[in-house]
Amino acid sequence: MTPVPSTDDFRAAVLAGLSRRRRAIPCRWLYDEIGSALFEVICTLPEYYLTRAETALLERVGPDLAELAGPGRVVVDLGAGSMSKTRLLLSALTRPAALVPVDIARRPLLTHARRLAEEFPALTVEPLNADFTRPLTLPPTVSGPVLGFFPGSTIGNLGRCEAMRLLRGLRRLGGPLLVGVDLVKDPAVLEAAYDDRAGVTAAFTGNLLARLVRELDAEIDRRAFTHRARWNPRRSRIEIHLVCRRATELRVAGRRFAFGRGSAIHVEDCHKYSPEAFRRLATRAGWTPVASWIDHGYSLHLLAPSGTSPL
Ligand code: TRP
Repeated sequence: MTPVPSTDDFRAAVLAGLSRRRRAIPCRWLYDEIGSALFEVICTLPEYYLTRAETALLERVGPDLAELAGPGRVVVDLGAGSMSKTRLLLSALTRPAALVPVDIARRPLLTHARRLAEEFPALTVEPLNADFTRPLTLPPTVSGPVLGFFPGSTIGNLGRCEAMRLLRGLRRLGGPLLVGVDLVKDPAVLEAAYDDRAGVTAAFTGNLLARLVRELDAEIDRRAFTHRARWNPRRSRIEIHLVCRRATELRVAGRRFAFGRGSAIHVEDCHKYSPEAFRRLATRAGWTPVASWIDHGYSLHLLAPSGTSPL
């Protein structure tokens, strides 16, 4: 069985992350049920262009994808969320055989999978509640040629080494991979996308602190922390932190962590690539770029495992 993260895993990750010199909590913990719902709102924000750009691209290149992928694919959707892009992909493909939506947030996964199964009655839908950065075991009920789907520029949320390791590991899915990757652009546009005026993104990262209270009985002054998103040109990434506006203390699982004014918890990086830089990364991770499509500062890449026949 593919392991699903538990409260013990969450506690261990928080204690390890807060004990580091540069405090950090890995971004997978942003996505509980509330976090997943807030993320769906982020996807509709005027500043958050990524979802619109990727949706438009998928609509445009659907026929090309269908031709390249051929019929009867088993789509493995990594970080499926509300599955709105999945619907577009499934509608574009010729007679897809099955969908395995993978997501760390269990309840939203099951709800969205059920809805999607109703809309696509001919499709086998087998939700998999798992952390896709760990090795995945596909359910035995699905068989056929796999097409991996990794949209949302989630690959950018991993560091270079982690991204490489994940891409290498995904070769085990045994089929091509369609990846959505956001591109480098005007820093003002990027920073706005991760710090919207309505404050939804701030609520999304703030939910991580709320989760500490809900699930780990942490004692914390949540208002002492504020959301910050900054472009780091040297690393080509948006860096997101929860920053302390005044000195405070966080107590969790019998431990105390003191925070000085201006100190921070790192919650997410969003790496932005050029199309060439992403293709280089994919190539080093054992994939052959088959096709890339670019529009509105966003890119989709179809990759085939190197050393096999093209698709
Ligand atoms: N994959 C998304 C991205 O990089 C994740 C994301 C969007 C995100 N907005 C965020 C993560 C705000 C943390 C905070 O665009």
